[in-house]
Amino acid sequence: MKIIISIATLALLMACSAEQPPCETSLTVVSDINQPDNQTPVENTIPDEYFDTDTSVLTLMNAIIQPSALELWQAVRYVVTAEGVEEDIRPQTDADWFRLQASAISLIEVGNSLLIPGRVMDNEPIDPDYPDYQYRPEEIQALVESDAENWRAYIKEMQFFTKNTLEAIEEKDLIGLMETGAAINNSCQGCHAEFWYRPTN
Ligand code: HEC
Repeated sequence: MKIIISIATLALLMACSAEQPPCETSLTVVSDINQPDNQTPVENTIPDEYFDTDTSVLTLMNAIIQPSALELWQAVRYVVTAEGVEEDIRPQTDADWFRLQASAISLIEVGNSLLIPGRVMDNEPIDPDYPDYQYRPEEIQALVESDAENWRAYIKEMQFFTKNTLEAIEEKDLIGLMETGAAINNSCQGCHAEFWYRPTN
């Protein structure tokens, strides 16, 4: 009986990590993520000065998130010319896999940085020549404050998908790496659509 139960539990866990969208990180469930069932939320008593949040969201995007994601997305690729497939790029050595593992871990951990309250935005809009297509930094700040739940949900989604990629990397599973890597992009796009790009009419 014990064996049956643990296999069933395992099957449930596997179904959970293989399904898309993820069962544990949907926009509705995620608000309970730090609250054990039927318990009142614990008040956050960590003082503001506990964390250093001076690095802006934009800097984190450019310095850690984009390079880590690109490393994962470009890990398996072909360069095709008129003469045929010229380069067939894929991780081969242990060092290649280790670099991918480091990128996945960076992406998961930078999610925690984005979750720290008080994270600053840049003072200047990204592209001052096109003020209409993007929210200004102070607008983004206000959106993050007014819809903290979705902000958290997109980050949790990014971490969830990247954890699937990390598993594929640890198993040196090329197909898994490509499939799960592509899924990470959903969380980037989702968050950008709500918190960065101004809706077009
Ligand atoms: C929780 C929300 C959120 C997630 C998830 C997210 N981003 Fe962003 N990203 C933003 C916001 C907000 C901005 C605009 C920041 C600003 O204007 O100060 C931004 C800006 C950027 C930029 C702007 C660079 C520039 O200078 O033009 C890049 C690149 C970027 N994100 C890449 C990514 C990638 C790649 C992912 C997924 C792996 C991702 N982001 C996931 C919120 C997010």
